Amino acid sequence: MRESAKELTRRQQSALLGGGEDRIRHQQAKGKLTARQRIDELFDRGTFEELGRFVRHQCSDFDMDQRRYYGDGVVTGYGKIRGRLTYVYSQDFTVFGGSLGRAHADKIVQVLTLAGQNGAPVIGLNDSGGARIQEGVVSLGGYADIFLQNTLLSGVVPQISAIMGPCAGGAVYSPALTDLVFMVQDTSFMFVTGPDVVRTVTREEVTANTLGGAAAHATRSGVAHAVRQDDASCLSAIREVLGFLPQNCEEQPPDRMSEDPVTRQAAPLDDIIPESANMPYDMHDVIGQIVDDARFFEIHQAYARNLICGFARIGGRSVGMVANQPAHLAGVLDIDASLKGARFVRFCDAFNVPLVVLEDVPGFLPGTDQEWGGIIKHGAKLLYAFCEATVPKITVITRKAYGGAYDVMSSKHIRGDLNFAWPMAEIAVMGPQGAVEILHRKNLAQASDSETRKATFEQEYRRKFANPYVAAEYGYIDDVILPRTTRTRIAHGLDMLRRKVLNNPRKKHDNLPL
Ligand code: HXC
Repeated sequence: MRESAKELTRRQQSALLGGGEDRIRHQQAKGKLTARQRIDELFDRGTFEELGRFVRHQCSDFDMDQRRYYGDGVVTGYGKIRGRLTYVYSQDFTVFGGSLGRAHADKIVQVLTLAGQNGAPVIGLNDSGGARIQEGVVSLGGYADIFLQNTLLSGVVPQISAIMGPCAGGAVYSPALTDLVFMVQDTSFMFVTGPDVVRTVTREEVTANTLGGAAAHATRSGVAHAVRQDDASCLSAIREVLGFLPQNCEEQPPDRMSEDPVTRQAAPLDDIIPESANMPYDMHDVIGQIVDDARFFEIHQAYARNLICGFARIGGRSVGMVANQPAHLAGVLDIDASLKGARFVRFCDAFNVPLVVLEDVPGFLPGTDQEWGGIIKHGAKLLYAFCEATVPKITVITRKAYGGAYDVMSSKHIRGDLNFAWPMAEIAVMGPQGAVEILHRKNLAQASDSETRKATFEQEYRRKFANPYVAAEYGYIDDVILPRTTRTRIAHGLDMLRRKVLNNPRKKHDNLPL
């Protein structure tokens, strides 16, 4: 081999080793893959092309000129995921703890820019000690450059972040600006200020995991949209979720046909609603019966469980499912559920994913916690999201649709395209008990047989209002359907709406109630 080729090979091998074999072993001992192994898992075999392999930092403070690693702690490039172009950056913790300096930031900005110019998704694999301390303000500038690109790309191409190690300080704001944040159980954490600063400022004693581990962000803060137990399953989940999304906002999500016929009758749904209106049932069971092959990719599975959000396919078509969950807090809408739903609806709308809503909602959650916490402005976000969404919207009211929640959950009044109700649906201003207590308060207070009267009034109210036919008479419901036919009706509706065109008024940007 010629000398120059040997030199290239030597440099390539050095680049592949990142911070060196010892540090790689240390990384793997923690149960983590290396930055390059993650890329191998993420992309179709043999499709990854690296960019900036020989980039090195130009810093000389703190003897940094003695330690210049090829790649500068981040592997960047592009490849194919299930045959579709995707960009990636993967931080290498073996090089200065994956910390971000000028060169490292420039490499990330390059792939973000390419993703925007070429209309393809970008995945960020985060494993970093944050701003590179030796480079000072230059690294802060680097972060800001990334934040700007994340913001400009928002709604243009899908951006997905995986947290696969530390993600601390201002570094958290890049993932937070992207569409989906995945975290890996036990090995990842995210916080603006770590346990030491927390102890100094608030005197709280807390571990990194309790403060910002996967469980904290999946259940409490809602920062994490999904958690997987290890790097490999996290990367496989990212491959899967991309399959529901188009490459960019100008394209439609790809269809993927299954063997599950759209004419399949979902007979178990006929008996799924309990006799008593106050008894719960699991809306996951309804989803499982409706979607292709019972396959459902849930987002925010452990957060605000009173609302279920996730991707599925019906008749091969990608859909975003939004469903009240009667098995948790009776499916009530509260602050967390409103935030979760609003974000998901906007994500689907931005990327042309039709929305399918399954509704069984007793209303908004009452109480000082909710009112003082701003349920008015947060509930308005969900309302706003459904109002502005221009993708096909199909709603099925399975049981309760009470009060403001009836309007909010993609009613026809806010441009729901097809709205169905099951025969046992109750569509009214409020439930029978509350309505009778208000309408007949004086009457009941004076009566000696108040309980009997109350029961009679409730029965009368139920007969008059707690059914789907009043709404259907006004045309607020397109049809009352047998539960078993739900899958077929939705599939036909999606087909009918395939070329729907609807535009919102032109504006600089909206003023979502934040
Ligand atoms: C430079 C860093 C670094 C950093 C880690 N390293 N973080 N080098 N800048 N920010 C280096 C370490 O010196 C060490 O090098 C190697 O990476 C591995 O780090 P360890 O500490 O040995 O690893 P571990 O015990 O696993 O701990 C990881 C860690 C810890 C929890 C991330 O390193 C840590 O707390 N780092 C600092 C985190 C931080 O405060 N970052 C700044 C946040 S503020 P050697 O050569 O000794 O092996 C921020 C602002 C962004 O990011 C603002 C944007 C607007």
